[in-house]
Amino acid sequence: MQGDAQEIDREIGKDELHRTGPDTLMGKLLRRFWHPVALAADVVPGRARPLRVLSEDLTLYRGESGAPYLIGGRCGHRCTVLHTGVVAGEQISCMYHGWRYDGTGVCTDIPAEKRPRGNPIRIAGYPTREYAGLIFAYLGEAPAPAFDLPRKSVLEDSSRSIFNKRETWDCNWFQQIENSMDAVHLNFAHRWGVVGEFGGSIAAGGAIPDLSYAETESGVRQTATRSKDNVRVSDWTFPNNNHVVAPGPVAGGPWLHLSSWHVPVDDTHTLRFRACAVEEKDPEEMERIKARYDLEFEPVDHAEQLFRGDLNGISEPSLISAQDYVAVKGQGAIFDRSRENLSSSDAGVAFVRRVFLRELGAISQGQSTKRWARLSEAIHLAEPPVKVAE
Ligand code: FES
Ligand SMILES: [Fe+2]
Repeated sequence: MQGDAQEIDREIGKDELHRTGPDTLMGKLLRRFWHPVALAADVVPGRARPLRVLSEDLTLYRGESGAPYLIGGRCGHRCTVLHTGVVAGEQISCMYHGWRYDGTGVCTDIPAEKRPRGNPIRIAGYPTREYAGLIFAYLGEAPAPAFDLPRKSVLEDSSRSIFNKRETWDCNWFQQIENSMDAVHLNFAHRWGVVGEFGGSIAAGGAIPDLSYAETESGVRQTATRSKDNVRVSDWTFPNNNHVVAPGPVAGGPWLHLSSWHVPVDDTHTLRFRACAVEEKDPEEMERIKARYDLEFEPVDHAEQLFRGDLNGISEPSLISAQDYVAVKGQGAIFDRSRENLSSSDAGVAFVRRVFLRELGAISQGQSTKRWARLSEAIHLAEPPVKVAE
């Protein structure tokens, strides 16, 4: 398998892993999937905001009905930004000369035009979907695939509450994909500082794990075995979601299901969305759990401090993010993979690259990519300590 990967590497080039513009192989691959693009709570009815994702500048707005719409970033007339426009009903009018667009990007009115226009004006328009506190969008060619791959039973479980977090990192998305396939970094990066239970004996402590990776219908199942009582399984969904369980921020409290997406803004910035599902319905207790998370924490705002190795004042749940940020941004805004030396503990990094390079290879040769589908049977992500099945 390693030989295959090297061959594909030579053919496709590892640089293709980090390029996400519309005309790149990865840009084409990513545009075949739904991605979260905003926190649902950040977009209020009747208002618009600018959004950059997959190297495209866009306008995200909610109509007065509450439905979200994602259309081009600039007006089709003389190209001023559209997010400064006025939302009325389900449409938005440009502030400059009033050209009006519907939620699919079709221009529906040109108020200052006296003569009828021959060609209809159309800017980009992409379907959206609200799920687990996030707004998802599909930026590829029509028809959009069914909204199925991002779904998880744990995110639809009425016994759980969900809260969300968004961060924006100033480095390439694929470094973050590789990091989520690197179970060994828990033993080191997440001991960089003091991290309470997550950095203690359960998740990050103990032996260097034995690693195993298996491709599934939806992505990759990662298993890190540190002892017979400490087996961590994570369920990674193609192309950019990682689902793990982890202790909550309140000692002795419920564990969290953390479903995280890494979405390229462009090649040097990444949106990171998280849906945290917790088995706790008591609103006061939920507020206590949420309050322990600094939901406003952006590692990039603390970069200077973090790269001095100073973790003072950063709360425990945010520390995990800060440590990952230091490790991953520390590789550079775009990591030069020609300088690396992979070892056997990087099995997950090699594995996930191989999967991507295979898919990029198929696109470059005009062949079909894998038909990724939601798991027919969810992977059980047990809370450690977990006995290994005999
Ligand atoms: S630039 Fe938008 S209406 Fe003229
Ligand atoms: Fe990490």
